[in-house]
Amino acid sequence: MSYFPDTPILCHSPRITVIGAGKVGSTLAQRIAEKNLADVVLLDIVQGIPQGLSLDLMEARGIELHHRQIIGTNDYADTSDSDIVVITAGFPRKPGMSRDDLLLMNAKIVVDSVTKAIAYSPNAIYIVVTNPLDVMTYLARQATGLPSDRIMGMAGVLDSARFQTFISMELGVSPSDVNAMVLGSHGDLMVPLPRYSTVNGIPITELLDAATIERLVERTRNGGAEIVALMQTGSAFFAPASSTCVMLESILQNQSRLLPVATYLQGEYGLKDIVIGVPCYLANNGIKSVLELNLTDVEMSALHASAQAIRKILDRTQEVFLIRK
Ligand code: NAI
Ligand code: 2OP
Repeated sequence: MSYFPDTPILCHSPRITVIGAGKVGSTLAQRIAEKNLADVVLLDIVQGIPQGLSLDLMEARGIELHHRQIIGTNDYADTSDSDIVVITAGFPRKPGMSRDDLLLMNAKIVVDSVTKAIAYSPNAIYIVVTNPLDVMTYLARQATGLPSDRIMGMAGVLDSARFQTFISMELGVSPSDVNAMVLGSHGDLMVPLPRYSTVNGIPITELLDAATIERLVERTRNGGAEIVALMQTGSAFFAPASSTCVMLESILQNQSRLLPVATYLQGEYGLKDIVIGVPCYLANNGIKSVLELNLTDVEMSALHASAQAIRKILDRTQEVFLIRK
């Protein structure tokens, strides 16, 4: 049941469905509404949670001064005709749970979510956030048959934001002057690119020595785990929600921002039939194009090593799926 099924919508307003009303999903709903980007449908499998969260967010509207509708629901029918669907449903690994258990559990949740969502929003753009990100995005694409410009994963924006933060902290400069670029998988083998990371256009390779850069690169690779180790329960959600919002904004406002996005490659960077993070232009119709950077041999082999790691988890997921089906 939805809380606000009969709320009149006075003019066409973009609509974003967020599946999974946990930490990332609920923070994302708040960001979307408070930035006045779109109406939000927040869906979760747990009864009452999305309804309660959406009522809470609605009650803040007069204070935050926006007029977006936020609907909480357990019913996919309420998500119909969404412009964008974001999938944050899924779980982090819990004590006693194997990697395979987690893979299988999240794979089932993601496939189930996209399959149900697409029945109501066949023309939407889909963004996957659930981990392991690159593999979940691949499975979502496979399950929906969506063209690769309309289904993608969020991770590179977050990993780049972390690299940007560590560079700005090291140099004592404003993060808004720092541009950072991280490609590859959302995992230990992600590929931060110092040559393409700058402070107001100046590559950090001219501002920091090699050992310092390597330390910042390692901290970026370990960025998610660093937060998990501090929090002990759960994982990061503020920066992940902000990072997803950057993608939503670029799509809804046709900004054509160049962002690292997990996308299905068909030969770009010498990679085929894999989802991995590479720079993409994001606009109204989703991924407008993939930018192929002139990578050095070292950078290119790091990207390929990253792809191999994704392939391994992907093969394992499909194997586990088959065994347990
Ligand atoms: P959370 O545990 O707070 O929320 C997950 C939500 O999904 C829960 O509310 C749960 O009830 C819901 N859910 C479970 N099964 C569902 C189903 N079948 N249909 C609808 N909802 C369902 O977790 P959190 O912190 O929000 O993270 C969500 C996912 O995002 C995790 O897999 C996490 O690892 C991933 N993540 C990915 C990031 C990235 O950069 N790609 C960054 C941060 C988190
Ligand atoms: C992160 O990087 C857990 O993927 C999540 O924080």
